[in-house]
Amino acid sequence: MIKFLPVFILTTYYSYANIQDKPCASKQIPGESVVCVCNATYCDELQRSIPSKDTFYVYTSSEGGLRFRKQAGIFATRSDELRKFHLVLDPKKTYQKIQGFGGSVTDAAGINWKSLTPTLRKSLIDSYYGIRGLEYNMARVPIGGSDFSTHPYAYNELPVNDLHLTNFTLAPEDFQFKLPMIHHIMNTSKVPVDIVATTWSPPPWMKNNNEFTGFSRLRTEYYQTYSDYHVKFLQKYKSEGVSIWGITTTNEPTDGVFNLVQFNSLGWTSAEMGEWIVNNLGPTIRNSEFKDLKILTCDDQRYTIPTWFAGLTNEYPEVLQYIDGIGVHFYGDKVSPAHYLDMVTNKYPDKFILATEACEGAYPWETSVILGSWNRAKSYITDIIEDLNHNIVGWIDWNLCLDSEGGPNWAKNFVDSPIIVFADRQEFYKQPMYYALGHISKFIPRQSYRIAVETSEGSDNSVAFVTPRNTTVIVLYNE
Ligand SMILES: *[C@@H]1O[C@H](CO)[C@@H](O)[C@H](O)[C@H]1NC(C)=O
Ligand SMILES: *[C@@H]1O[C@H](CO)[C@@H](O)[C@H](O)[C@H]1NC(C)=O
Ligand SMILES: *[C@@H]1O[C@H](CO)[C@@H](O)[C@H](O)[C@H]1NC(C)=O
Ligand SMILES: *[C@@H]1O[C@H](CO)[C@@H](O)[C@H](O)[C@H]1NC(C)=O
Repeated sequence: MIKFLPVFILTTYYSYANIQDKPCASKQIPGESVVCVCNATYCDELQRSIPSKDTFYVYTSSEGGLRFRKQAGIFATRSDELRKFHLVLDPKKTYQKIQGFGGSVTDAAGINWKSLTPTLRKSLIDSYYGIRGLEYNMARVPIGGSDFSTHPYAYNELPVNDLHLTNFTLAPEDFQFKLPMIHHIMNTSKVPVDIVATTWSPPPWMKNNNEFTGFSRLRTEYYQTYSDYHVKFLQKYKSEGVSIWGITTTNEPTDGVFNLVQFNSLGWTSAEMGEWIVNNLGPTIRNSEFKDLKILTCDDQRYTIPTWFAGLTNEYPEVLQYIDGIGVHFYGDKVSPAHYLDMVTNKYPDKFILATEACEGAYPWETSVILGSWNRAKSYITDIIEDLNHNIVGWIDWNLCLDSEGGPNWAKNFVDSPIIVFADRQEFYKQPMYYALGHISKFIPRQSYRIAVETSEGSDNSVAFVTPRNTTVIVLYNE
C-alpha cells in the first residue's frame, strides 16, 4: 500500500438531498430495471454538491432502482477499522486531461425533440446539458445527412460535378431540427460546448459509384472540392452562430470499403486518406479562418486504429502535422484496449483519443430499444471506465434521443438511446444508460486530470480524477 496519507475511513454516512433535487419518477419495466419518466410537470433533477474538506458525497445508481441516490459522509482516521474493501489513490501519478462528454444532434434526435412541447424540450436539454442535468459539454453533428435522417442527402447535390460548390446551402433539416437544438444546448450549458462535425457521405457526384451508400471512393478530381465542402459547412454554421470545435475525416471510412452497412458512407483506405489530408484537407483548414479547428482521423472502430495509423503515415508522414487526434467508435470494443488504444498514446503522445460514437442495439440481431435495460447501462459504464483508463479525453454518445422504435432512420438501422421520446403521450423516459453516462459526465468536468487508483478488487472497475475545483472524483463499478 502507498504510504502517503494516514488511513482515512468514512465514519458517518447519511442520506442527503438538496432542497432542489427531484428524485426519479420511476417506472418498473417487467424483467428489466426502472426508467425515469419525465412529463409536462415533472422531471428528475440533481444538484451536484461540492464537499468541504474531509467530507464526501456518494451517488449511487443500481439495478434495483436507485438513481443518483445521494449520501454524505465525513472522513476520519481510524486505522483500527480497515475494511475488507479498500481503495488507494495516488495523486502524484497523473494521466490525461478531460475534454468532455456529450451526445449527438442527429436529424432523428432533432425530430423527436421537436415533437415535444416547449416545456418538455427544455426539460430534455436541461436533463443533458443543464446544471441540474448531466452537465454534458460536447456534441457531435453530422455534416448533411446520416442514416438517422428521414432520407439520404448531402449539401450541393445539384448541380452535379460542381467543382467549386457554387450552390452550397444548408438543408431544411439544419434549420428545422439541428440548429434549433444546438442553439438551445448552447444556451443551456454553463461552459462552452465543443462540437465535433462529421460527414457520412458527400453528394453522390463526388463519388465513383454515384450513390450515397455501397462500395465507393472519392473521385480524385474532387479531393480539393471535398476539403472545401468542409470549410463551406464551417462557414455556414458559423454564420448561424455555431462554431465547430473539431471535424473528423469522414465517418467510419471502412464502411464504404467493405460495404457492410446500408447507409450513407464514403470508402477510404488509410493510404488514400493520408494523401487527401496532406495535399488537401490539412493545408485547406490550416490556411483558412478555421486554422485552430481540431482534425480527428480514423472515426472508426477500435480494431482499425493500428493499421489505420500505419497506412496513413507510411507514405505520408506529414499527416502528423495536420491531425490533432483520433476518433474511435464503440462497436468493436471487445478487442483489447491495451493493444489498440495504448499504441496511439505510446507512439504518438501528442495525439489525443476521443470516443466519438456509441450506442446499444446496433447489431442486426439485437433488439433496437430495450426499455429499462440494466445490461446496457453496464455495457456503457464498463466501456467508459475502460476507455478513460486508456487515456481517452472524452466520450460522445450517439443520438441524444430516439422514438420507441429507435428511429427515425431511413436505412432502418434502428438503435437504442439513453432518452426515448413518446410524442403521443408527451413524455420521455430516461433509460439506465442515461445514468451510466451521468455518473461520468456530471462529476468529471473539462480539464480534470486522471490519477492512479487501485481497489482491493483490481483497477478495472474504477477510475479517478482531480477536478479543477480541487475535488477528487472516483467512479466505481460494482458488478
Ligand atoms: C407527471 O408526472 C408526475 C410525477 O410522476 C405525476 O404525479 C403526474 O401525474 C404526471 N402528469 C401527467 C399529466 O401524467
Ligand atoms: C441548388 O440547390 C437547390 C437545393 O438546395 C436546388 O433546388 C437547385 O436546383 C440547385 N440549383 C442548381 C442551379 O442546380
Ligand atoms: C438563447 O439566448 C439568447 C440570448 O438570451 C436568446 O436571444 C435566444 O432566443 C436563445 N435561443 C434559444 C434557442 O433559446
Ligand atoms: C487548487 O489547488 C491548486 C494547488 O494547490 C491551487 O493553486 C488552486 O488555486 C486551487 N484551485 C481552486 C479552485 O481551489
